[in-house]
Amino acid sequence: ARITLRQLLDHAAENDYGLPAYNINNMEQGLAIMEAAHEVNAPVIIQASRGARSYANDIVLAKLIDALAELYPNIPVCMHQDHGNGAATCATAIQYGFTSVMMDGSLEEDAKTPASYEYNVDVTRRVTEMAHSCGVSVEGELGVLGSLETGMGEAEDGHGFEGKLDHSQLLTDPDQAVDFVAATKVDALAIAMGTSHGAYKFTRKPDGDVLAMNVIEEIHRRLPNTHLVMHGSSSVPQDLQDIINAYGGQMPQTWGVPVEEILRGIKHGVRKVNIDTDNRMAITGAIRKVLVEKPGEFDPRAYLKPAKEAMRKLCKERYQQFGCEGMA
Ligand code: G3H
Ligand code: 13P
Ligand code: NA
Ligand code: ZN
Repeated sequence: ARITLRQLLDHAAENDYGLPAYNINNMEQGLAIMEAAHEVNAPVIIQASRGARSYANDIVLAKLIDALAELYPNIPVCMHQDHGNGAATCATAIQYGFTSVMMDGSLEEDAKTPASYEYNVDVTRRVTEMAHSCGVSVEGELGVLGSLETGMGEAEDGHGFEGKLDHSQLLTDPDQAVDFVAATKVDALAIAMGTSHGAYKFTRKPDGDVLAMNVIEEIHRRLPNTHLVMHGSSSVPQDLQDIINAYGGQMPQTWGVPVEEILRGIKHGVRKVNIDTDNRMAITGAIRKVLVEKPGEFDPRAYLKPAKEAMRKLCKERYQQFGCEGMA
């Protein structure tokens, strides 16, 4: 059954757990998420980026989500627009049946330029008014995702901005967060504290200098009733790096967000944890392994089935680690 983000995160807050939000682009990823959730009886947040909507096609994606929800009628499913860049993207997501939208006003509509605070408040407030009138939830973002190690902020295409950002742009300001939530009435707030999208987040296991979990604690103290969202929360597991590299991949050594740091966030108001890269790596490792071990194979099912299995296993592990088991 379809459910809004607000309903899911209110339940998570009442019961002290956090929900992974997994990105979807195709059928195999959708099945992997639902099979994992079904095994542990966890509620589901499936999210689609603008790139996912254009890759899969809006109509195909919308009907795929309908099919997934119908397949598991007892699992609550929230369909969320990831990183909406403007009111039009959020409005069309709602037309296609999404029950939640992210209005990411931390960047301008080009998804490349850091936006002013005034722009962010204005566009997020307008989207929230529109979405709430349709019974749809809204996630806002305050602060620019990017690396505290390098000062590189992150544009949507994964490339850094020209010129470096300072810590005040890369870390959400707690005073501004209080003002932002009051002004926009968002249901959930994504904050910046040193994570970035993709596999190359940290050049070593992160400590408090590069992953500022204390910012989350401070914002939660100031906004105890606001659901917080961590983006860029893949852990980039060593074993997945190793599988990819053992079967012909070339990923330089890298570090993600350790699960224990995410759990610390969940203790301090984090209710939605965005994960895409880990699933991409699980899928890629499994496909590489089949193609290397069976070079004569050419039936896509021969590598897509192990790929789906690898993603299912990872999704299930995060549901268990974040305390979602039995919460559906
Ligand atoms: O926002 C980042 C997610 O990993 C989605 O990535 O825009 O390449 O689909 P994407
Ligand atoms: P990762 O790249 O760390 O998986 O983050 C995904 C994300 O934040 C999607 O919005
Ligand atoms: Na999102
Ligand atoms: Zn994100």
